[in-house]
Amino acid sequence: MKTRITKLFGIQYPIQCGGMLWLATPELAAAISNTGAMGNLTSGNYNTGDGLREAIDRTRELTDKPFIVNITTMPSIRLPIELLREFFQICCEKKVTAIEVAGAPVDTFLGPDYIPMAKKADVKVLHKVGTVKHAIHAQKIGYDAITVAGFEEGGFPHKDNVSTIVLVPKVVEEVDIPVLVAGGMADGKSLAAALALGADGIMMATRFLATKESNVHPNIYAALLKANENDTSLNLQSLLSGFGLQVRALRNEMIRKIEEVEQKGGDLSDLLPLISGERARQVWKNGNVEEAMLTIGQSVGRIRDIPSVGELISRMVKEAGSAIQRSMRMIE
Ligand SMILES: Cc1cc2nc3c(=O)[nH]c(=O)nc-3n(C[C@H](O)[C@H](O)[C@H](O)COP(=O)(O)O)c2cc1C
Repeated sequence: MKTRITKLFGIQYPIQCGGMLWLATPELAAAISNTGAMGNLTSGNYNTGDGLREAIDRTRELTDKPFIVNITTMPSIRLPIELLREFFQICCEKKVTAIEVAGAPVDTFLGPDYIPMAKKADVKVLHKVGTVKHAIHAQKIGYDAITVAGFEEGGFPHKDNVSTIVLVPKVVEEVDIPVLVAGGMADGKSLAAALALGADGIMMATRFLATKESNVHPNIYAALLKANENDTSLNLQSLLSGFGLQVRALRNEMIRKIEEVEQKGGDLSDLLPLISGERARQVWKNGNVEEAMLTIGQSVGRIRDIPSVGELISRMVKEAGSAIQRSMRMIE
């Protein structure tokens, strides 16, 4: 397959894994990159610059293919802004193929020197956006590409609640840089739809979570297979609306507790113990599905198996081809 994204990254298939805290590790990133798609190494997994350096080196031991490093630019107690700046510098020093920024734009959050720093190092920079306005800003300040994420996505969708199918064509009409589609993407039909909407590829995270190489506890795989498209919910609007965001996560006991606290007008100090990343980190491994906020998108309703990433990507590429041919036959 050839799109502006495959050319920009030097990859075979226009399919990227999104940032996944604790899960997008060197092992998963390399497994995905080795299929010809683009693996993701999430910098938030590490507490120090050296931790990220070692992880980049480890990923390079496991693959000689391109991968992207996610830097989530949101205020965080564990990951202060100085560390996020260091992460960005390390990606430039190490000349990773690309950086995926999610959250505040680099120019306002890290500073005006960071996009030029990446350009000088020939490191591509993408921004994940949930509005047309943010897409236009990203292009204006020099990002190489954008990921457009509708509110179906797992993680932190924009508070505007606009769906992928509406947002993507609007953004494609407004910007000239390559566009990846995220939020609800799960298979080859999604890829075909993204290309039909005028985009250059897709980004997925929930679907990659449901692969053998994500290496989560068997209970998590079982919960993913059981969940339907209406088993996630949007929460934490009170806490995150200042950043224009909210959280989409699996509806479980922890989400019900979070809702109770929110309804009683609880503040950050009441919510922090419930939403801490540390809880999720443990649950991915111990499988106590009810005990943490687990960021998962609506696409979970379309997941019916746990393939290897290799099986997933080859199936998606075939299926996208069939979907496009089927549509073309209808037009002739
Ligand atoms: C388990 C999990 C963890 C995530 N962690 C992060 C993260 O650390 N940083 C980030 O920018 N996005 C994170 N996301 C959001 C994804 O990168 C991506 O935007 C979203 O999941 C795409 O939509 P999908 O869920 O329909 O595939 C996470 C998503 C999942 C499923």
